[in-house]
Amino acid sequence: METLNAIFNRKSIRTYTGKKISEDKLKKILKAAKAAPVGMGKYDTVHITVIENPELLKEIDINTANIFGIPDIHPLYGAPTLVVVSVKPEGKTPNNTEYSNAAIITHNMALASVDSGIGGCHIWGAVMALNENQNLVKQLNLPDGFVPCCGITLGETQEQYTPQDIPENRVGTNFIK
Ligand SMILES: Cc1cc2nc3c(=O)[nH]c(=O)nc-3n(C[C@H](O)[C@H](O)[C@H](O)COP(=O)(O)O)c2cc1C
Repeated sequence: METLNAIFNRKSIRTYTGKKISEDKLKKILKAAKAAPVGMGKYDTVHITVIENPELLKEIDINTANIFGIPDIHPLYGAPTLVVVSVKPEGKTPNNTEYSNAAIITHNMALASVDSGIGGCHIWGAVMALNENQNLVKQLNLPDGFVPCCGITLGETQEQYTPQDIPENRVGTNFIK
């Protein structure tokens, strides 16, 4: 799929068949993640964790629902894979560059998932809730000093990617000529 087609077809997919994506597709999506630009080229300040352990996914799902105070929601939508992107902040919390690095890496995975016909959804809520529960963060086995920032669910889906309606006025835009 051409780049612009992937961009124009992309949408958040929140229904999954439960089937994990193939190793080949996961490898391609992770390659796309690693192709992302990172501020000052500091690739050693970002880290990717692929979570496919059903028990841990369930714990993250329940933790999010509890922290949001809505016990019957499933913020990971039953996806078989959650990829978390973490950063090593220079200060106490990630600054704008550090956060952006994680977001750009995650969005490369979102676009690669469209290209592969894999369902994907950016997941910030569950990652925010994850950071409220350090016992759960420990289970990610992150290198020292890394903080989870962004995430994306991935999984086989029955949904199709088709060109999305993108209203011209969706994002306010001004021109200075
Ligand atoms: C930074 C960011 C965080 C998001 N976090 C979540 C999330 O936690 N859960 C979720 O279901 N969708 C999340 N989304 C998906 C947005 O809700 C979705 O992209 C938006 O409503 C537009 O819909 P579309 O992706 O189908 O075009 C997030 C998207 C972005 C860009």
